[in-house]
Amino acid sequence: MGRLDGKVAIVTGGAQGLGRADCEALIAEGARVLVTDINAEAGERLVRELNARRDGCAKFLRHDVTDEAQWVVAIDSAVATFGGLHILVNNAGIVIPATPEDTTLEQYRKHNAIMNEGTFLGCKHAIPAMAKSGGGSIINVSSVASHLGYPVFFAYTAAKGAVRAMTKSIAVWCQMQKYGIRCNSIHPGATDTPMLDAANKQLGLTEEFYTNSGPGLAKPEDIANVVVFLASDESRFVNGAEILIDNAAVIQ
Ligand SMILES: NC(=O)c1ccc[n+]([C@@H]2O[C@H](COP(=O)([O-])OP(=O)(O)OC[C@H]3O[C@@H](n4cnc5c(N)ncnc54)[C@H](O)[C@@H]3O)[C@@H](O)[C@H]2O)c1
Repeated sequence: MGRLDGKVAIVTGGAQGLGRADCEALIAEGARVLVTDINAEAGERLVRELNARRDGCAKFLRHDVTDEAQWVVAIDSAVATFGGLHILVNNAGIVIPATPEDTTLEQYRKHNAIMNEGTFLGCKHAIPAMAKSGGGSIINVSSVASHLGYPVFFAYTAAKGAVRAMTKSIAVWCQMQKYGIRCNSIHPGATDTPMLDAANKQLGLTEEFYTNSGPGLAKPEDIANVVVFLASDESRFVNGAEILIDNAAVIQ
C-alpha cells in the first residue's frame, strides 16, 4: 500500500530538479502524475523512465504556467487521463540574479509571471477540479527567499513572497467553502538542482560557500519527502501552513 494510492497529481516544472524529485516520490507512493514543463525533451525523457518503473503512472504535457489557456488544458488532461485531480505542486520557477537597483522591469515581470501568476492560475483552475474529485492538496513551492533579505535575488524574493501570502488566502477560502482542499507552502533553502548550479556559476559561488555558511545544501529528495507528506492524508489538518525546509537557515 502506498501513501498516495489512487491519487492524481500535477507537478509543474517537473522535468528536472525539485519537480523531478517530487514526481519520483509521488509515484513511488502510488500516485499517478501529469508532469508538466516547458522543457518537453527532458519531460518526455523523465516520463519514459517513470513509466518503465510502473506502466501508466505518468504522462507529460508541455505547459507554460504563465498561460491561462494552457492551465485549462493541463487540468482537463489530468482529469481525462487519470480520472480526477487530488494534488497540485506549483513548482515551476526561475531565478535571474540581480539587485534591486539592477533588476529590469522585464526581469521583475518574468519572475512574477512564472511564480506569482503561475501559482495563482494553477490554484484557481485546480480548485474546481479537486472539489469535484472529493478534495485535495495544493503545495506551493515558495522559498526561504520569502523570509529573508536576499538582495541579489530581488525579483525572485518578491515573487516568492506573493506565493507565501496567497497560499494562506487559498487555504482559508477552501476551508470556508468546505471543499476538502488544503493549501500549504514549502520554503526550501539552497537545494542542489540545475537552477542553483546556474545561479552559483553566475555569482561565482561553490558548494563550500553553503557548507561554510552553516546549513549546507539540501538534496531534492529532502524537499520531495515533505511534498509527499503534504500530498497525503497524513497532513489532513495541516492547512495554510508554511514549512521551512532549510536546516535552520532562516532562524540562524
Ligand atoms: N534549488 C533551490 O535552491 C531552491 C530553493 C528554494 C526554492 N526553490 C524553488 O523550487 C522550484 C524548482 O526549482 P529547481 O531548483 O528545481 O529549478 P530548476 O531550474 O532545476 O527546475 C525548474 C523547472 O521549471 C521549468 N520552468 C521554468 N519556467 C517555466 C514555465 N514558464 N512553465 C513551466 N515550467 C517552467 C524549467 O523548465 C525547469 O524544468 C522553483 O520554484 C524554485 O524557485 C528552489
